[in-house]
Amino acid sequence: MKFEINSYQDYQKEYQKSVINPEGFWAEKANEFIWRKKWNNVLSWNFTEPTIKWFEGGKLNITENCLDRHLQERGNKIAYIWEPNNPNEKNIKITYFELYTKVCRFANVLKNNGIKKGDRVCMYMPMIPELVVSMLACARIGAIHSVVYAGFSSDALANRIQDTQSKLLITSNGAYRGTKQIKIKTIVDEALKKCESIKKVIVVKRTDENISMLTGRDVLWKDEEANVGDTCNAVEMDAEDILFVLYTSGSTGKPKGIVHTCAGYMVYVDYTFRNIFHCSQQDVYWCSADIGWITGHSYLVYGPLLSGVTSVMFEGIPTYPDAGRYWEVIDKHNVNIFYTSPTAIRALMTYDIDFVDKHQLTSLKLLGTVGEPINESAWKWYYKHIGKEKCFIVDTWWQTETGGIAISPLLNVSYPKPGYAMHPLPGIQPTIVDGTGKKLIGNEVQGQLCIKFPWPGMLRTIYNNPERYKQTYFTDFPGFYFTGDGCKRDKNGDYRITGRVDDLIKISGHLLGTAEIENAINSHHKVVESAVIGYPHPIKGNAICAFVVPFKTSENPEQLKLEIIEQVSHLIGPIAKPDKVQLITELPKTRSGKIMRRILQKILGGETTHFGDTSTLINPKVIETLVKENIKEFQLNNNQH
Ligand code: WT7
Repeated sequence: MKFEINSYQDYQKEYQKSVINPEGFWAEKANEFIWRKKWNNVLSWNFTEPTIKWFEGGKLNITENCLDRHLQERGNKIAYIWEPNNPNEKNIKITYFELYTKVCRFANVLKNNGIKKGDRVCMYMPMIPELVVSMLACARIGAIHSVVYAGFSSDALANRIQDTQSKLLITSNGAYRGTKQIKIKTIVDEALKKCESIKKVIVVKRTDENISMLTGRDVLWKDEEANVGDTCNAVEMDAEDILFVLYTSGSTGKPKGIVHTCAGYMVYVDYTFRNIFHCSQQDVYWCSADIGWITGHSYLVYGPLLSGVTSVMFEGIPTYPDAGRYWEVIDKHNVNIFYTSPTAIRALMTYDIDFVDKHQLTSLKLLGTVGEPINESAWKWYYKHIGKEKCFIVDTWWQTETGGIAISPLLNVSYPKPGYAMHPLPGIQPTIVDGTGKKLIGNEVQGQLCIKFPWPGMLRTIYNNPERYKQTYFTDFPGFYFTGDGCKRDKNGDYRITGRVDDLIKISGHLLGTAEIENAINSHHKVVESAVIGYPHPIKGNAICAFVVPFKTSENPEQLKLEIIEQVSHLIGPIAKPDKVQLITELPKTRSGKIMRRILQKILGGETTHFGDTSTLINPKVIETLVKENIKEFQLNNNQH
């Protein structure tokens, strides 16, 4: 495998090239792929309209690059080692040739069920090989896949299906997660009551759960796949045709359907996968992320397949059957490169170190993290106990929107520096700006992170909502792509991501909008209004506190709190459940009606006197009341324990 970046000199050379002549730089990378027809124009763009097009006029199919081109050289190489939830169940090994055949067969199934180029297909599935096959089968025939994380509630699923107007849904009867069995199809049936666009549902049998099938709509994967051919010609796609839509939370209540296109995404994910993970042809690579998130799309499906490497795909959770499961799987499959989340590390750190020390972990060469800032103690634990002080750690910063990793430490380039994402990848031109939009030049600066030039993996729009696309990313700081993150460039020029600067909160690595959670809470009939804020949590990074104004405070407040938590779980999913609910009489608001979250943050932190400038508050007395209510709440909780 080719690694362009092997030393600091390489990095500098690549980076310079990517800035001085971005088109030449990316055209050279793009030349390595199979194209039906090469592009006419490498890049046309402006960040005002905004419009971004890479490799215009190029024709290709990403699955020919993920599958067909490997068949001769590594058809019998294992593409995926699937490790089931239950360690006693047999794992499954799928070669590149087998994967190719499965994808072709299922692409034929999709065609038989009326799916054509440009149609949207939604997946709501556990981490089973059929999910990868489904995505690639869509890509094979030019259908747009939209994977919805199977931890979302039926309402959240329904909203996403309605937004894409998906015609077909692929799901499973149930799912295994640790000791739990989840009734996936029941959630689907509930969601589909509100989704008229769905004409067909294809169901994989994963558990022994008996389910009801709706005649005419629901069919079994097994039955459909029985009578189709082993080959399926890949549909020729334009470079800028949509490959997939993936939803992420936004500052308004409604999630954003992030759109990625065929060619640019492919070129960028491939380049970053190779140069960050340095996976050789003999290596076994494992990304533990769920495919319902962008990390799974880019670095468990497309990235590794484009490189033709062997990946582990894991169905279960890190603590089942015990807190040593990840380490057991690493030994079992001789994993060389392991990519996971800070939340998982922090959770596993709390268990007895014997859960780690029982395992050898000698195969490991490189470790990665993604999704949220990693605190120094978690970094050190990972470095010492998992990497045995000999594995380089890549703390990779990126977003659903960036398509692939954008800032990361690089092997043989960066020195280990906990908490730092370090270096912008070639092609990424970060700019730090202050609140007024002024560019902060030089080192030792801190502000908000923007990117000033397009890269091939960046989002092209928000599905069905170009106006929101412009508003969210290109309006606050005209001429730049705005990330929504705070960032520091230290005296050495190294980058450190400091966290979100907008109304989004990272909980266990999952991005959630305060407005999304507030909408869910406010829909409870006993609630007037609410404000949600994040506060530091030792394992999840952040936890959620909801300040809620009920119609009447007197009647059974504890019961109401439980109902509110249940409401959020029902409307969004268990990941969005508030950790604390505080019933209050009034929210601190400005004259223009904006909630002053800063004040709530301070109240929660135990502040009683110093609230900064409160002159814009409509009712300054509200602070006094909030302080009293917070103290009461605190006493109440302490009496309970
Ligand atoms: C947000 C994007 C990137 C794939 C998974 C999450 C935060 C991500 C890091 C990191 C500090 C990080 C940012 C970013 N984030 N990686 N290494 N250090 N923060 O994708 O759900 O779109 O979330 O995750 O706040 O904006 P996402």
